[in-house]
Amino acid sequence: MAGSTFGSAFRVTTFGESHGPAVGCIIDGCPPGIALDLAQLQAFMARRRPGQSRLVTPRDEEDAVEVLSGLEQDGGRTLGSPILLLVRNKDQRSKSYEEWHHIYRPSHADFGYDAKYGLRAWQGGGRASARETVGRVAAGAVAEQVLAGRFPALRIVAWVERVGPIDARQAIDALSVTRAEVDAHPTRCPERTSAESMEAAILEAKKQGDSLGGYLRLVVHGVPPGLGEPVFDKLDALLAQAFLSLPACKGIEIGSGFAGPEMTGLQHNDPYRWLPPGEHAAGRTPQLITTSNRSGGIQGGISNGMPIDLRLVFKPTATVLQPQDSADDAGNNVPLQAKGRHDPCVLPRAVPIVEAMAALVIVDCWLRQRAQVGDPWPGLQGPVARGEADGAGVPPAG
Ligand SMILES: Cc1cc2nc3c(=O)[nH]c(=O)nc-3n(C[C@H](O)[C@H](O)[C@H](O)COP(=O)(O)O)c2cc1C
Repeated sequence: MAGSTFGSAFRVTTFGESHGPAVGCIIDGCPPGIALDLAQLQAFMARRRPGQSRLVTPRDEEDAVEVLSGLEQDGGRTLGSPILLLVRNKDQRSKSYEEWHHIYRPSHADFGYDAKYGLRAWQGGGRASARETVGRVAAGAVAEQVLAGRFPALRIVAWVERVGPIDARQAIDALSVTRAEVDAHPTRCPERTSAESMEAAILEAKKQGDSLGGYLRLVVHGVPPGLGEPVFDKLDALLAQAFLSLPACKGIEIGSGFAGPEMTGLQHNDPYRWLPPGEHAAGRTPQLITTSNRSGGIQGGISNGMPIDLRLVFKPTATVLQPQDSADDAGNNVPLQAKGRHDPCVLPRAVPIVEAMAALVIVDCWLRQRAQVGDPWPGLQGPVARGEADGAGVPPAG
């Protein structure tokens, strides 16, 4: 199967089927000498695992990561060789798929795989299952640790902003949300009242044998300016590929996104401002900000040092446990009554997956920047380092 590899400098290949013996990833291009904290990696995996609350699928997987390659045996530092991270599947129940495996499940990948390959791993959806994202999350956890060593101010946080009709956007201060706040509720919505309504809505949909979709918000703080490659590998294009490659993700909105046309250009532009020395923000280089962030931290496909801010749309889970019209692979129109264990809403578990994909994009862009321009690169140092300003990082007035 082509298309299982993501990234160009930090290259991640995921492998494994939902009901096969194992899933995981191979990372090639990880810098050597990084002391990986495997307990932290495992804690990140736990945020994605199934069975963590009654809002998600009860499939019970520990998702314990085995490192088969790429790490020192004694010290745990990366060797620079391919890192293979393996997770054994333990709680597959293929029986529930057996009796209707010849029927194409509506809005699933079944027909597409058959049309493309002439056969498919019908047990649990094979590669189309969200089980594939185990490898992405493991790789993203490594990427995040690599980034933490170089950009200590970098902070990636995603949360559930909307489930079905319940939209918490207005109630959340997007710039202050922390992972601890997000993880405090099983919906992964950091605003309590909305979280409780979302929980009730998901449980009601589950009771009805139905499902819900929603929006997920991602903010990345502390991104250095200069990441992203003109022209085809713009940062926004890479992020879009990263997220739209996730199962059930159907749209991305960067910065003001689809609301942009509600303003004129004059209202919409993000004005620049050099921070005077008294207002310098810790860890920020250079001290140039925009006073609004309708660009979502990216202009011309390159990060501008403002937070990356985007929203993603996830569709309602395709598997619903009520009778549906469908068709089989032998030319018959037949009803489908699906069974099995499913997420009635994929959003709570999508949060760490989205954070992992963001880390993969950023680490890849950083390694590409370092390879071509060096590190630190001129734009990180600002006019002072380039000998162009008045010594304070603030251009002379006028
Ligand atoms: C975290 C997560 C969990 C998911 N769990 C389920 C599930 O339990 N049942 C289901 O039908 N789809 C689930 N999906 C989505 C399907 O894998 C996906 O919709 C399907 O393969 C068709 O692909 P598409 O929606 O990208 O077109 C999940 C997606 C994510 C991100």
